Amino acid sequence: MKTSVFCAASIDGFIAKADDDIDWLKPYENDPHRFEEFFASIDAVVIGRRTFEVVLKFGSWLYTKPVFVLSSSLKELPKLPKRAVCELINAEPGDVLKQLEQRGFKHLYVDGGITIQRFLSAGLIDRITITRVPILLGSGIPLFGTLPHEAPLKHVETRTYPTGLVQSEYELVR
Ligand SMILES: NC(=O)c1ccc[n+]([C@@H]2O[C@H](COP(=O)([O-])OP(=O)(O)OC[C@H]3O[C@@H](n4cnc5c(N)ncnc54)[C@H](OP(=O)(O)O)[C@@H]3O)[C@@H](O)[C@H]2O)c1
Repeated sequence: MKTSVFCAASIDGFIAKADDDIDWLKPYENDPHRFEEFFASIDAVVIGRRTFEVVLKFGSWLYTKPVFVLSSSLKELPKLPKRAVCELINAEPGDVLKQLEQRGFKHLYVDGGITIQRFLSAGLIDRITITRVPILLGSGIPLFGTLPHEAPLKHVETRTYPTGLVQSEYELVR
């Protein structure tokens, strides 16, 4: 099982403002920064409950692959858009991977700040692609937090885009 992170962050390391505002990403929406290629490579998405709640408000459902929502507080999922294939899981990252591996999934896209941090703490992320957006938000929801251990990374590639996006790809060194 392979796990990848693919997310956009401000230069000061935030993935959203404290009120979930991501309007600062709008100027870059049409910049093809390899998201489609990445999304084609995964077979399921694992998101935290908070990211799920934000995505639900978008109006149209983003994901064309199965989505697993992690939550210990939700007892069931709310009414979903028609095209959404979505399941609730309440389990530690290692158990989430075991369950999904047994069901035949091979490459997971892990998203949401706290969720990514929990998978990183468990040593269960293989690849991180961060697209740095040229803005300092000053405060907000952080991509990274504290970890119980160091996590050396191998730099794979950095790409720059005319809009000012700078995308770096790393592999976790085991
Ligand atoms: N810039 C980007 O690329 C990007 C990408 C993704 C998200 N975002 C933004 O980031 C914000 C959300 O991030 P966030 O850090 O606040 O939260 P998050 O990771 O989306 O969700 C956190 C919640 O997920 C649940 N969870 C995570 N791991 C779990 C596990 N192993 N078992 C059970 N439950 C688990 C918990 O829900 P319960 O409290 O229900 O237990 C936890 O409170 C949103 O504003 C979203 O729009 C930005």
